[in-house]
Amino acid sequence: MTDDITAGPTTSDAPSPAGAYLGDPAARAEWDKRYAERDRLWSGRPNGALVAEVAGLTPGRVLDVGCGEGADAVWLAGGGWEVTALEVSGVALERAAGHARDAGAEVRWVHAGLAEAGLPPASFDLVSAQYPALPRTAGALAERALLAAVAPGGVLLFVHHAGVDAHQAREDGFDPADFVWPSMVLALLDDDWEVEAHEQRARVAPEGGAGAHHAEDLVVRARRLR
Ligand SMILES: C[S@@+](CC[C@H](N)C(=O)[O-])C[C@H]1O[C@@H](n2cnc3c(N)ncnc32)[C@H](O)[C@@H]1O
Repeated sequence: MTDDITAGPTTSDAPSPAGAYLGDPAARAEWDKRYAERDRLWSGRPNGALVAEVAGLTPGRVLDVGCGEGADAVWLAGGGWEVTALEVSGVALERAAGHARDAGAEVRWVHAGLAEAGLPPASFDLVSAQYPALPRTAGALAERALLAAVAPGGVLLFVHHAGVDAHQAREDGFDPADFVWPSMVLALLDDDWEVEAHEQRARVAPEGGAGAHHAEDLVVRARRLR
């Protein structure tokens, strides 16, 4: 058990016990339901944009936001990173912790929504958000929490799907307007930040998993200067 990384939520080498969750119960229930519908929702492979962007970085403390089934967290831990992985779905976290155990990877799991987690400020050398389903709020709470978590000199890597068909998405029960997109994070960057990448790229498509049909990424990589 490691409990020094956050002031608020339970953090541990195993997923939080029931009741220790900090966040919107509806978000937890919705994502738990989605994960429980399949034995495995995503590809099980680390995201290609993460692998590409991390190549030039020195391992340090990383926060994986919306870690899902843990493929990125396990991969990062294997590369020498000190990993904290945060997720609203307890079903996903149980799965992620199982994969980490199988791989012999050490990860701190945080069962919380990003905005509610109460993470200590400026404490991560890398904050990675890969296709995160962060709720959009009037106060830009999730965006601010992302930025606040990055240590001076550290990097925020925010990757999302490009070219989402909003009409189709709404028919599938998901309104893109309800979520945080890269432009909303970019809009909050001030002189303390340098944008190192802001581009649309062909996605290194995963083999299988519910997101495999997305072909293009929007990649924002920003470094906190001070
Ligand atoms: C599209 S999945 C991506 C999962 C993982 N990053 C990956 O690339 O496989 C979005 C994830 O965001 C999580 N999520 C939803 N609301 C969240 C919140 N408020 N804070 C953190 N994660 C959240 C969901 O449970 C889900 O696992």
